[in-house]
Amino acid sequence: MRLENKRAIITAAASGMGRAGAELFTREGARVAAVDRDAEALKSVVDAINANGGKAEGFVADLSDNDAVARCFAEATDSLGGIDVLWSHAGMPAPSDFESLDLERYDRAAQLNVTQATLLASLAVAEMRKQASGSIVFTSSSSGLVGSASSPLYSSLKAGLIGLTKGLAVRYATEGIRINAVCPGMVATPMLYNDFMSDSPFSREETEKRFVAAIPMGRPGQPEEIAHAALWLASDDASFVTGVALPVDGGLVAR
Ligand SMILES: NC(=O)c1ccc[n+]([C@@H]2O[C@H](COP(=O)([O-])OP(=O)(O)OC[C@H]3O[C@@H](n4cnc5c(N)ncnc54)[C@H](O)[C@@H]3O)[C@@H](O)[C@H]2O)c1
Repeated sequence: MRLENKRAIITAAASGMGRAGAELFTREGARVAAVDRDAEALKSVVDAINANGGKAEGFVADLSDNDAVARCFAEATDSLGGIDVLWSHAGMPAPSDFESLDLERYDRAAQLNVTQATLLASLAVAEMRKQASGSIVFTSSSSGLVGSASSPLYSSLKAGLIGLTKGLAVRYATEGIRINAVCPGMVATPMLYNDFMSDSPFSREETEKRFVAAIPMGRPGQPEEIAHAALWLASDDASFVTGVALPVDGGLVAR
C-alpha cells in the first residue's frame, strides 16, 4: 500500500476529485481527515469509506473563512496525531468577465484558491518540519499552465499556486518535504457542469461537445484519474519529485 499509516488531510473531499482522493488514499492505507463545507455529503463519503474498512473522519468547515481553515487544521491534526500528506484541493471558479470586474467575487475566488491553500500549506509545513518529512499536493489547473480566454482571472490564481508550489519546493527541498501541484484539465465533476460550462450560450449537449473537442483524448477526465495522480505525487513513489506542476488533462495543454 502506497500510503500505509500515513496521516492525510484532503480538502473539498465531499465530491468529485476530492472524494475520489479520500476513497483512494484510504484504500492505500492512509487515515484521512476529509474536509468540506457540505456536512451531509461529507458524512455520506466518510460513512461509505469506514463501512468499506477504510479510516476517515469528516471535518466540516467553510474554507472561505481563514479562521475556519486554521481551526479545522488544528482539529484534524489533533485527531490524526500529526500530518504526513496534505492534498489541498478546494478551489472555485473566478469571474469570467474582466472589463466590468466584480472585485468582490474575484476576492472570494482569490481567498479560496490561493490564500486558503497558502494558509493550509503554511500550517502543514510547520508540522512537517518537526518530523522532517511530508508531502503537499496543490490542485492547480490546466488553466494555470496556459491562458484561459474564458477566465483569465482563474488562470492567474491557478498559476499563482504553481508559483507557490515551486517556491516552497525549493525552500523545503532539503527538509524532507516535497511540494507539487496537480493540474487537472476538464474533469467530470459538478464544478465542470455547474460552473465552468454554465456561462455558455449553447445547450448543455452542444457546450459539452465544444469543450470536449479541445481535448486530444476526446473525453473529460474522471475524478479517479486525477486522484491517482495526486496519490502518486503524495506517495514515496514520487520520492525524487518536487516543484512539479503535473498536467492530468488528456493532452489538453500539449497542443
Ligand atoms: N472539475 C474540473 O474540470 C476542474 C479542472 C481543473 C481544476 N479544478 C479544481 O478542482 C477543485 C474542485 O474540485 P472538483 O472539480 O472535484 O469539484 P466538485 O464540484 O466535485 O466539488 C467541490 C467540493 O468543494 C466543496 N467546497 C466548495 N467551496 C468550499 C468551501 N468554501 N469550503 C469547503 N468546501 C468547499 C464543495 O462542497 C464540494 O464538495 C478546485 O480547486 C477547482 O479549481 C477542477
